[in-house]
Amino acid sequence: MVVGQVQNLLKHYGGAVVVAAVWTLLVAGSMGWNIYSEHVEIRSLATKEARALFNKDKSMRLWGASHGGVYVPVDERTPPNPNLSHLPDRDIETFSGKQLTLMNPAYMMRQMMAEFAQIYGVKGKITSFPDKLFNTLNAPDEWELASLQAFQKGDVEAFEFTDIGGEPYLRLMRPMFINEACLKCHGRQGYEVGELRGGISVSVPMGAYVDGQIVHAFIAVSTHGAIWGLGLGGIVWGARRLRRNTQALLVSKEQAESANRSKSDFLANMSHELRTPLNAIIGFSQMMEDEIFGPVGSDKNKEYLKNIKLSGEHLLSVINDILDISQIEAGEMEYIEDHVDLGEVADACLRLGKPQAVRANLALNARMPEKPPVVIADKVKVTQILLNLLSNAIKFTPKGGKVELKIETNLSGEVMMSVADTGIGIKPEDIDKVQEPFVQVENIMNRSHHGSGLGLSMSRRLSELHDGNLTIESEHGVGTTVTVCFPSTRVVQFG
Ligand code: HEC
Repeated sequence: MVVGQVQNLLKHYGGAVVVAAVWTLLVAGSMGWNIYSEHVEIRSLATKEARALFNKDKSMRLWGASHGGVYVPVDERTPPNPNLSHLPDRDIETFSGKQLTLMNPAYMMRQMMAEFAQIYGVKGKITSFPDKLFNTLNAPDEWELASLQAFQKGDVEAFEFTDIGGEPYLRLMRPMFINEACLKCHGRQGYEVGELRGGISVSVPMGAYVDGQIVHAFIAVSTHGAIWGLGLGGIVWGARRLRRNTQALLVSKEQAESANRSKSDFLANMSHELRTPLNAIIGFSQMMEDEIFGPVGSDKNKEYLKNIKLSGEHLLSVINDILDISQIEAGEMEYIEDHVDLGEVADACLRLGKPQAVRANLALNARMPEKPPVVIADKVKVTQILLNLLSNAIKFTPKGGKVELKIETNLSGEVMMSVADTGIGIKPEDIDKVQEPFVQVENIMNRSHHGSGLGLSMSRRLSELHDGNLTIESEHGVGTTVTVCFPSTRVVQFG
């Protein structure tokens, strides 16, 4: 059921589904990129903040160290540091009797962070390798130890995004090296200036950043969602419209086809209705001619009767040609493909054309290769083309002229079948006109001749039916050559 619906959808809207998929990918990609780049941006902001805090932390420590530690009053919060007991001046007394003790930088900072954690804002820690610790409170955790080891190998900074007590944190750690000031208290441990003493790490809470990121992601998702929805709506709308238009187009095409069909049906019926009485007229006039015009018949009446017969025959050929043309136009022309020996067709047509040529007192010749070419074609149609060309040539060539049929293969492997005459020719401006159905060019078409005015346009259409073409070369008053060309793809055997 669902599969069927999907198949149906794909069948009618396949293109739109592809467009929608591409659109979805684009929008999703843009959204992903947007969220990702915000994520990168936020990390870099947090990193900047961590570095700033580290620097504040470090400068305070260095300040403390540069003074060799600082003296503060002794009280419960600040007992003397047992780790400094080796220094002779750890505890001093003022003239007024106040007790002061020396606070080393690590001690100082630890107290500051413990008492002013809220204001200080970040957790800072000083640490060192476990075997070098002055104070075990400063022992490194796993990450810090790994970072210290990396510093030993030359790293200058370590980062970690992590959770501390369920809250997201960015941790940053940098190495601390021994300078002159440090030796006052750490010299005892055997350190020398420039040696890696340990490191300071700061942990920046990421909560605010993460909140911002969530808000940003929410905005990105909703704006992209809206844009995606709009685009998708547009695609669906467009696809529907396109489908409607296509359907309308199909319907009108169908209508046109059926109109064409009924037109050619009509013509077929009409020509039958016309042909039957015409045949009767022709037949009876023939019989009448045979019967009554013996020795007694007047030549005038015989002439009239002959004209009746000729007109009938002319009308019949017009009807036949109209029917043929309408069938070609409607794509209903019966077309039987075969291997056609053009030599045979030419011989048959010459035989049929001979009497007409003799009557017109013309020389009718043929020039063909010894072994004539064979083409894939409909034999009846090819015969029809050639007969048309021959009878046109004979018709328009005055007495004593010459009509020549020629078949040859050219260099491109095409077969050319041409009929050349030494007739009245066609004026250049009329060349296109003579190929239009029924157009009879003045001085060219002698209406008393048998001919429908359809011969050339028929022949051209029949040639096209064979993927070929028909060309006319003519010089007014000199003669005309009409050539039909069969493409090499249809040639089975060259001449
Ligand atoms: C006034 C004395 C004094 C000076 C000066 C001093 N320190 Fe310390 N430092 C200590 C004491 C004492 C401890 C350990 C006790 C504590 O955490 O309070 C300590 C702890 C440390 C630690 C933590 C690891 C541990 O061993 O507990 C590092 C790292 C450190 N100092 C680096 C330095 C560096 C680097 C300098 C010079 C820039 C320096 N200190 C200057 C006294 C000093």
